[in-house]
Amino acid sequence: MMDWNADLYENKHDFVAEYGRDLLSHVPENPSQSILDLGCGTGMLTHALLEKSSSVVGLDASPEMIGKARQLYPGMDFRVMDACRMPWNNWFDLVFSNAAFHWIPDQEKLLKAVFRILKPQGKLICEFGAYHNILRIRETFQASLKRIGLTPNTRFYFPTAEEYRSLLEQTGLHPELVLDFDRPTPLKDGPDGLRNWVRQFFCADLKNLTEKKRSRIFKEMEEALRDDLWDGSQWVADYRRIRVMAVK
Ligand SMILES: C[S@@+](CC[C@H](N)C(=O)[O-])C[C@H]1O[C@@H](n2cnc3c(N)ncnc32)[C@H](O)[C@@H]1O
Repeated sequence: MMDWNADLYENKHDFVAEYGRDLLSHVPENPSQSILDLGCGTGMLTHALLEKSSSVVGLDASPEMIGKARQLYPGMDFRVMDACRMPWNNWFDLVFSNAAFHWIPDQEKLLKAVFRILKPQGKLICEFGAYHNILRIRETFQASLKRIGLTPNTRFYFPTAEEYRSLLEQTGLHPELVLDFDRPTPLKDGPDGLRNWVRQFFCADLKNLTEKKRSRIFKEMEEALRDDLWDGSQWVADYRRIRVMAVK
């Protein structure tokens, strides 16, 4: 499993959760509903979900992320757990998830688990990376790794809307909305934005490399991507998202 740097996430990549606020607007307000925030990270959206209900649980596989969430939002219910191994049955009215599903390679297992923990009529509201998400970034990263004799081992699940719709149906979840769209995403920190991003999200590939090799990869990527993703003052990552609403 990938190690998450919770401080780097909280300081430089809080845009991930900021974008998730828009997804929150689709969550109905109802004090008696029970909500799970799946892959909650450092807990910003889990905390924001308290505006919708008083019964909110945050779950994440990373002890670092949950440690940070507990520190930031003491008193809230956070659990370290793999989403494919959730223990509940017919328990939640709503499963919410932002920017987490694409990190989970076994989507069938994940959706079966989501189905199981939802009550009948319960709802899944999630958003994550769609087909061709960060395609240019991935291509250049892969090319740089290849030059030093390595292949990437960070695996993502980025489906098309059609593919995901049929996976939901296969699991017994009725899709109300499955929409994919481009969402160019500005990165913080001017010239360092891209390398910060690569450090965070490709850390599984970088962790065994020397700092010299990492710097070389960053420089190669910056050169290759400048024309497409540098807007003169910041890096703008080529994000594509898929937004899903489905009912059990
Ligand atoms: C980019 S973060 C998003 C965090 C948060 N939802 C937000 O919007 O800021 C992705 C999170 O998914 C979590 N994750 C990845 N695989 C998981 C799994 N199998 N079960 C639970 N969480 C997982 C990671 O640990 C990480 O915290």
